[in-house]
Amino acid sequence: MLLNSVYPRLLLHLVAAMPLIYALVLIIRSATGDFTALGADPAEELMSYLGQWALIGIIVTLAISPLNRRVPRLRLIRYRRLFGLWAFACVCLHMVLYTVVLSGLNMEVLLSDILERPFIILGVLGFLMLVPMAITSTAGWRRRLGRNWSRLHRLIYLVTGVALVHFFLQVRSDYGEFVLISTVAILLLLLRLPFQKLKSLFRQARQH
Ligand code: HEM
Repeated sequence: MLLNSVYPRLLLHLVAAMPLIYALVLIIRSATGDFTALGADPAEELMSYLGQWALIGIIVTLAISPLNRRVPRLRLIRYRRLFGLWAFACVCLHMVLYTVVLSGLNMEVLLSDILERPFIILGVLGFLMLVPMAITSTAGWRRRLGRNWSRLHRLIYLVTGVALVHFFLQVRSDYGEFVLISTVAILLLLLRLPFQKLKSLFRQARQH
């Protein structure tokens, strides 16, 4: 009964917003002189933190439909948009920190950095694919777009792939976090493969 009320939604908003709430705590601690909070380069540290949480948020969003299929009575699918939008907020802040705070909105700095570190273009591509998904995530857009809505929102698979390569290309030494995050993401992407269809195609091929 409780699952049908408004409280689970509020609670899940709070859970999904936790990385941003914690980021705020870190900013306040850092601004009040606690240098252990965000280290010597707070903007850089915060950008990495938001990039990782953006990717984790996308992965949580990806996990909702397989979970929904396994436990349909919880109707977890109702909360997929909520997690997707909080992940998108992390992506936006990650990008704002880079373009506004770290590059000072200076076109010359941005261009030379992109030439030096082309993985940034992949990040921008991921962001550009997420924008139409965020805009059309409402029930109204879903109705208006019909079957094209699902086609458009399948872009999330491409976004995940692009974000993983973006992540991989900037790792300098410790691959631990990358390996952990990418393993979960790849497993979730593999779950999307139409196993039943592949099985029946394989069976048909063997009969001929
Ligand atoms: C789908 C969108 C995106 C996701 C999921 C994402 C995720 C990530 C992740 C996980 C990292 C590694 C963080 C770390 O461990 O240090 C990262 C780094 C980075 N991202 Fe993104 N990103 C996205 C979009 C963007 C965009 C749009 C930009 C800039 C316009 C950008 C610029 C960067 C830069 C410059 C770094 C390197 C940070 C460093 O030097 O430590 N990202 N991103």
